[in-house]
Amino acid sequence: MKKVCIVGASGKLGQYMVQHALDRDYEIVAVCRPESVGKLDDFKDRITIVPGKTNDREMIRQAVAECDGVLTVLVPWGVQHYATGTAQAVLDFAPPDARLCFSCGWHITRDGNDVYPLKLRAFVKTFGFLVRLFRFADLSDQVEACRRVFASDTRWTVVRASDLEEGDSQGLPVWSEHVGDPVLESNLTRRIDFGLFMVAALENDELVQMAPAIVGCKTPSALAYSSAAGAAG
Ligand SMILES: NC(=O)c1ccc[n+]([C@@H]2O[C@H](COP(=O)([O-])OP(=O)(O)OC[C@H]3O[C@@H](n4cnc5c(N)ncnc54)[C@H](OP(=O)(O)O)[C@@H]3O)[C@@H](O)[C@H]2O)c1
Repeated sequence: MKKVCIVGASGKLGQYMVQHALDRDYEIVAVCRPESVGKLDDFKDRITIVPGKTNDREMIRQAVAECDGVLTVLVPWGVQHYATGTAQAVLDFAPPDARLCFSCGWHITRDGNDVYPLKLRAFVKTFGFLVRLFRFADLSDQVEACRRVFASDTRWTVVRASDLEEGDSQGLPVWSEHVGDPVLESNLTRRIDFGLFMVAALENDELVQMAPAIVGCKTPSALAYSSAAGAAG
């Protein structure tokens, strides 16, 4: 992994990924909306910034050229299929052997075998309805974006994050294939560690064509699972 494109680099997750990628000495191409370029001022001397909407196909084509990895922040904002356009452009134009990592939340399911807490189901239903009503966001756009990634034969990983909090890094989150697995029960990850998982996934072939659901490694459920696994082993 030498050259990495970060699509949606100016957001909170994006900036953490920029820092983690710099820590690994990757050459970074950062794509962000023109109005958000200033959010990357702290990094501007060490990265190449490409201003543009992340669903601008021509801009993505140029940004991902010759990249070994592409990290993409998928968000459901707006009702113009922004996430789907972003994901499709990355899928279409990233070099065929590039590692692709996409971010989303637990609410995305790959095989329908996730078992969601009632609270999360209620939140997605209510939040999804309200934001769509006010044309603020469209959760189904993020769902469609991920469906296209799942159907692709590229070297993708879709990282599904729990609820997020700010704070210092606790280390690489633990993951499981399905929401509902006991290790994930605590449903909390530090955003900085979500970024760490995304960047680390680029070099982890075990995660190719996987949709890991993650949780903080220091959360009670992660710690309980680790000690249970240790005792069994
Ligand atoms: N928030 C949570 O609790 C949570 C939980 C689980 C998973 N996730 C996932 O984590 C990832 C990062 O989400 P985040 O909530 O932490 O936010 P974030 O990192 O701050 O990222 C928000 C992104 O959305 C962009 N954005 C904001 N308004 C937009 C608009 N109107 N149109 C297009 N793009 C817009 C931002 O770009 P600008 O910098 O240009 O504004 C930024 O790239 C997402 O994939 C999300 O699904 C979030």
